[in-house]
Amino acid sequence: MSKQIAIDGPAGAGKSTIAKKVAAILGFIYVDTGAMYRAMALYMIKEGINPGETNKIVDKCKSADITIKHENGEQVVYLNGENVNGLIRTEEVGNMASSVSVIGFVRQKLVELQQKLAAETDVVMDGRDIGTVVLPDADLKIYLTASSKVRAERRYKELTEKGVSCNIDDIERDIVERDYRDMHREISPLKQADDAVLIDSSNYTIEEVAKKIIDCYSKV
Ligand code: DC
Repeated sequence: MSKQIAIDGPAGAGKSTIAKKVAAILGFIYVDTGAMYRAMALYMIKEGINPGETNKIVDKCKSADITIKHENGEQVVYLNGENVNGLIRTEEVGNMASSVSVIGFVRQKLVELQQKLAAETDVVMDGRDIGTVVLPDADLKIYLTASSKVRAERRYKELTEKGVSCNIDDIERDIVERDYRDMHREISPLKQADDAVLIDSSNYTIEEVAKKIIDCYSKV
């Protein structure tokens, strides 16, 4: 039976950085499920589809072949055979991902892929519904959060370091809107699983949070 650690939480709480670290320490594979929703969103953007066009999204979703490979320890997402890792990290794609992820048909397709990956190998998987829907029997579930202010500051720093000019208030507003959409959608909304450990990363470093998770895992 493969080992499973589920990490859920809102955008910008540090899930991917921390999950990657924990996976490296334990020798597990890190699976970033948000990247799959982002790849689907990129496909819709490329096809000229708008966020509210549910019927078109459902229809197009059928011809989106999303696969995950691990190359040199990194997760690589392929969309219809093309490596799209370099194209899915924009705000536009993130917002579209949040919109396409409300659609049950899209979720069903990607959840199946996620469960298949977790059945094959030991994983640290992060997302919004991993502990509640994708891996309900995970060995350890973490709900990782941070205040919207701290998350906006982190994102602002990340973008300005990359030379992208941005406004911190706009970033925080986007984060709050995205949280609302992710937490209030009808299907698989973001919420803490009853048996998840809550960690607020606002006042901790990445290393401290990773250590807390490893400590929790050593006790299960
Ligand atoms: O974690 P992220 O920012 O890359 O995720 C992008 C969007 O995808 C997020 O706003 C909601 C959606 N998502 C989801 O609904 N379920 C997941 N397991 C992962 C992401």
